[in-house]
Amino acid sequence: MLNIDWKELGFNYIKTDYRYISYWKDGKWSEGKLVKDNMLTISEASPALHYGQQCFEGLKAYRTKEGKIQLFRADANAKRMMATCDRLLMPTVPIDMFLDAAKKVVKANEEYVPPYGTGATLYLRPFVIGVGDNIGVKPATEYIFSIFCMPVGPYFKGGMTPVNFCVSDYDRAAPKGTGGVKVGGNYAGSLLPHAEAAKRGFADCIYLDPATHKKIEEVGSANFFGITKDDKFVTPVSPSILPSITKYSLLYLAEHYLHMPVEQRDVYIDKIDEFKEAGACGTAAVISPIGGIEYEDKLHVFYSEKEVGPITKKLYDTLIGIQFGDVKAPEGWIFEVE
Ligand code: PLP
Ligand code: COI
Repeated sequence: MLNIDWKELGFNYIKTDYRYISYWKDGKWSEGKLVKDNMLTISEASPALHYGQQCFEGLKAYRTKEGKIQLFRADANAKRMMATCDRLLMPTVPIDMFLDAAKKVVKANEEYVPPYGTGATLYLRPFVIGVGDNIGVKPATEYIFSIFCMPVGPYFKGGMTPVNFCVSDYDRAAPKGTGGVKVGGNYAGSLLPHAEAAKRGFADCIYLDPATHKKIEEVGSANFFGITKDDKFVTPVSPSILPSITKYSLLYLAEHYLHMPVEQRDVYIDKIDEFKEAGACGTAAVISPIGGIEYEDKLHVFYSEKEVGPITKKLYDTLIGIQFGDVKAPEGWIFEVE
């Protein structure tokens, strides 16, 4: 029996028993294996270490009321990882191989999948790294694909309690850079802006579009959505925003489950008072209500700094209802782990 207080989990690394690993060599992936060792031994000249030739994904496994285990839209993570690998000239992991690896890791670590009702989930972290002896700035000739996992609780402290954000002067991505794919370098560059925001008491910072600094792009490591005063679900579009699977799910749920008009369009920071509710969404963040955004020395509060707004709450209940198997999912969203 594991000694884990499921309800007290935050978003922290916990070593679980097994991880999946496959090696790319001579133009193909090796047959993946589940291994116990959580240490990697790689060449000191690996391009992942020097030139950031690496990427990652994040997805979750959920325990249903009946005790089954299911993954949420894992095929979308597989596809996004393929797009990221293409952008960095890395070999892609085929969708079936990704899904098989994800299921195997969950199954092998079954006892770490938190019980239904605790709110906790099993977070899976797939990654691909360029390895091998390679000192010039060129793609690696060898790669590692791995998935490890750990039980997690809320990413932002308090979960569904609103948190405040400030607007960053830094850019997280360049207009035609790598913001739209999930590469580690995007996150290395965000550590300083995050630390500065945290020092000032904010949960994280909002990144504006790098070309004009007028439009909202991301909320730390999550996408932005807002509910207008006339009840529209609005989320920004830009090639430098990471295409969040949670965001696209909420767009669908707002339209088809909550019957709201939805819009993907520019969201201007100097017009944020058009929203009566706002949220950050992502796999780790799920939905985190945004209490307020500090912009030009003023805190613009949406619904409340203390309570979640009713539409955000409905979206959240619908999303997690589907993820935990309590609400009927749109076709193809759920992958059972048998
Ligand atoms: N934006 C960034 C920068 C992220 O790192 C993430 C996390 O994956 C998201 C948005 C949310 O994406 P998803 O909903 O696919 O997890
Ligand atoms: C996720 O939501 O899965 C993320 O990748 C966000 C963060 C933990 C990097």
